[in-house]
Amino acid sequence: MSTLFEPVAVGDLQLANRVVMAPLTRNRAPGAVPTPLMATYYSQRATAGLLVTEATPVSHQGQGYADVPGLYAPEQIAGWQIVTKSVHDAGGKIVVQLWHVGRVSHNDLQPGGGAPVAPSAIRAQTKTVLIVDGVPTFVDTSEPRALALDELPGIVKDFRQAALNAVEAGFDGVEIHAANGYLIDQFLKTGSNHRTDAYGGSIEDRARLLIEVVKAVTDAIGGGRTGIRLSPVTPANDVVDADPQPLFDHVVRQLAPMNLAYLHLIEGATGGPREIADRPFDYAALRAAYRAAGGKAAWMVNNGYDLSLAEQALKDGADLVAFGKSFIANPDLVERLRRGGPFNTPDRNTFYGGGEQGYTDYPALA
Ligand code: PHB
Repeated sequence: MSTLFEPVAVGDLQLANRVVMAPLTRNRAPGAVPTPLMATYYSQRATAGLLVTEATPVSHQGQGYADVPGLYAPEQIAGWQIVTKSVHDAGGKIVVQLWHVGRVSHNDLQPGGGAPVAPSAIRAQTKTVLIVDGVPTFVDTSEPRALALDELPGIVKDFRQAALNAVEAGFDGVEIHAANGYLIDQFLKTGSNHRTDAYGGSIEDRARLLIEVVKAVTDAIGGGRTGIRLSPVTPANDVVDADPQPLFDHVVRQLAPMNLAYLHLIEGATGGPREIADRPFDYAALRAAYRAAGGKAAWMVNNGYDLSLAEQALKDGADLVAFGKSFIANPDLVERLRRGGPFNTPDRNTFYGGGEQGYTDYPALA
């Protein structure tokens, strides 16, 4: 029987164990440039089998929160090089999560103060983060504009270029962020996509942008270094789909022949309950559909896992388990899981923005 602490091959990557650090937004990159403090933070956590970075915009247009690091400018690539080197020096593996927020943004964060972009001009009932008088502050998202058909190839190209930049920055791979109500997820779901062209309407058309992005990224850097994150039923950022099971069934069948490294599933409500009464979803059926279509990627599960839930998930056929908040508070989470604790408690007040406090000062075990 496999356990959390055994090595595993995931695409082109050889991982020391099956414990993954989930992507976590921390808003500590002023001017969108990664800092040396971020290198300390990630390398402290390098005993994870795999680190997934905080979500990282592929373009200025893809940014929706203050002080998140990008991967589209030379100084950003240089900043990430310091991060990846320090993780590798500590024996870890790290992939970058490639992000376009779509409508979850604010004019103040957009190029030229423009409107955030979306599949359709439907505002998200959700908040974003601006720095107001030096303090991270939650504000309503701005009114978006619908992307023109001829703008979509540029977005696909931005993902492709960011994947190439990731290789230049020394990352072991990338994770395409197709979850949590951001751009790709906005296209997938009926609540946010009212388009009548080739990118809206049927399941096939709503999944078109996702598939084009995955093709472009895997063509650029190889499927063995590419993962993808999906959240079939999360209400995060005001997304909803009328019929998610067949939608995601189609998505994973399309992904099956693309030789990805892993599929990363957020089960239930992101950061919330694993079961949502009015949004049932059968994840085992989804995995079975993927396997039946010949998909061989590692299956990564996420949301509210502890040791016993994680061991059970592996028994049930998952390959990797991603831990979020517990990695914020426990840099040596792998060792603490191995010993059965104790675990530090994460401090919500220091999740977003700030410096070392609540970031690099959580203690490791002696
Ligand atoms: C956030 O910044 O709140 C955030 C970012 C990426 C996610 C979820 C939440 O996938």
